[in-house]
Order: sequence, then C-alpha cells, then structure tokens
Amino acid sequence: MSAYFTEDGSVEAVNGRMSADANPRLAEIMASLVKHLHAFAKETKLTPEEWEVGIDFLTKTGQICSGERQEFILLSDTLGFSMLVDAINNRRPTGATENTVFGPFHVPNAPVREMGTNISLDGKGEPCLFEGRVLDLDGNPIEGARVDVWSDNADGYYDVQQPHAQPKWNNRGIFVTGSDGRYSFVGIKPVSYPIPDDGPVGQMLGYLGRHPYRPAHMHYLVTAPGFQKVVTHTFVGDDPYLQSDTVFGVKDTLIAPFERGTDNQTAWRSPFDFVLVPVHRAESISCNEDQRA
Ligand code: BEZ
Ligand code: FE
Repeated sequence: MSAYFTEDGSVEAVNGRMSADANPRLAEIMASLVKHLHAFAKETKLTPEEWEVGIDFLTKTGQICSGERQEFILLSDTLGFSMLVDAINNRRPTGATENTVFGPFHVPNAPVREMGTNISLDGKGEPCLFEGRVLDLDGNPIEGARVDVWSDNADGYYDVQQPHAQPKWNNRGIFVTGSDGRYSFVGIKPVSYPIPDDGPVGQMLGYLGRHPYRPAHMHYLVTAPGFQKVVTHTFVGDDPYLQSDTVFGVKDTLIAPFERGTDNQTAWRSPFDFVLVPVHRAESISCNEDQRA
C-alpha cells in the first residue's frame, strides 16, 4: 500500500504514523476512533459543506462551555453516549441497583442532614417523603452509607441554575445510614424539565425534531465503604416523557412508587431500596449479559 494518503488506504495512512512508543491504550483508542471516523465519512459521502457545518457545531459547543456549563457532556448525553459508557462500565448482578446518567447539576459537599429533614427550602411543590434502605446483595442493611440527593424545584430548575432566586442547597442533602441501613427525607414530588437547550445541543435537538425534556426524577449518589458507588435516579411512573427521556436515562428498575401520603405534612410517599455490590465484584455479570452475547 502507498505511503501517501489514498481514499482506500486512509485509515492505514493515519494510524501508520503512530509511534510504537505511544501509550498502548491511547494508541488502541485513537486507532479505533480514526477507523470509525473515516468509515462514517465514507458511508455518508460527507461533503465539504457538511464537514464545515460539523466543525462549526463543535466550535460553538466548545465556545459555550464554562465553569458552570459543559455543553460537550450534554452532547454526549443526548447522543446516548454517556449512558452507553456507563452501561459498559457498570454491569451489575440482578437485584443490584442500576446506574443512570450523572448529569451536570450535582454539587459536591452538600450539607449532611438529619434523617427526615425537609430539603425543599423554597417551599414550592408537593411534599414527598422519600424513604428506604441501603442493602447489600443478601439483603443486609449497610451502615454508614452516604445517600447524596438532589433534584430540581417545582419550577423545573436546580438551585445552581437560579442562584439568585433559590436558597443555596435547595433540594439537596446527604443522609448517612445507621445500623438499620435506613434513609428518609422530605423533598418534592419531582417534575419534568428541559435540559439547557439555548445552545448548540438544543439547536441540534430542534433540527432533529427531538424535545429537550427529562422525565421527573430524584437524583441519588449512594456510596459506602467496600461497595461500588451507585449514580442513579428514581423516576415517577406516570411521567409523559418516560419513554422519550432526551438523555436516555430511564430504566425499568428505577421507576419508583409514588403513593399518596398518609399525614398532612407529605402529600406523597416514595419508598425505594438501594442494593449495592461489593467492590470486589466489579466484573460481575449484568442482568443483560445473555441478551448481549
Ligand atoms: C439531569 O438530570 O440533571 C441532567 C442529565 C443530563 C443532562 C442534563 C441534565
Ligand atoms: Fe436531573
């Protein structure tokens, strides 16, 4: 094959330049990326005008990024890429709580709160009691698990999106389990909301005839010493966007009951147990393993 660039030999021309001293994992990833990128251009017979639109889109995606906004992650999320990478890296045994997309609105070091605390500081929305246990795969309670929770408010915005309109740490908190593995807090019954769609990713969704909405959910980051961390949500079952989450985050096992509350304080109650996998079972078989083979 010629050492010069040809259409047929395009992949070899590029990948052949890599030094044998390059980091082996980087070399593997870049060689595969070049192979698939070239195959994409060949399959679609990409024109120079279309190439330019793509470059312009990626340039704008980068330009809108800031400390508070990560448009590339939004792009990854809306292309299903975040969920795919998460799925590949978090294959868990049946019965373990599944992961879903992390999203851009987690804030580290939220206040550690007493069990049962109301985290809705703006007083908006329908109060909902969230409660359950953090368990191991055998159903034993896990003591010392940190249940870090966050959600949008009743208007569909996270506190960090409205720093001047919402109290700091609105709808956020960390709850640490005792020996019974139990957690409980009062939040609001979640409401669906659009992801930030005023940038290039929102424009892309518009051109593709896709809506920007996420179905109502409560976010959880559950950690415990000796166990794999769980990044997940619970979803409200009757949400109109459940089947069309713009970031593909919904899983059957994450749809939680939302029942009418029994006291005056909380209009709703949502019970949900988290089941964690020990760290040493990192390579455990997914419940979908058979379907993938
Ligand atoms: C979220 O649920 O907070 C979220 C996830 C992905 C993109 C945007 C928002
Ligand atoms: Fe969210």
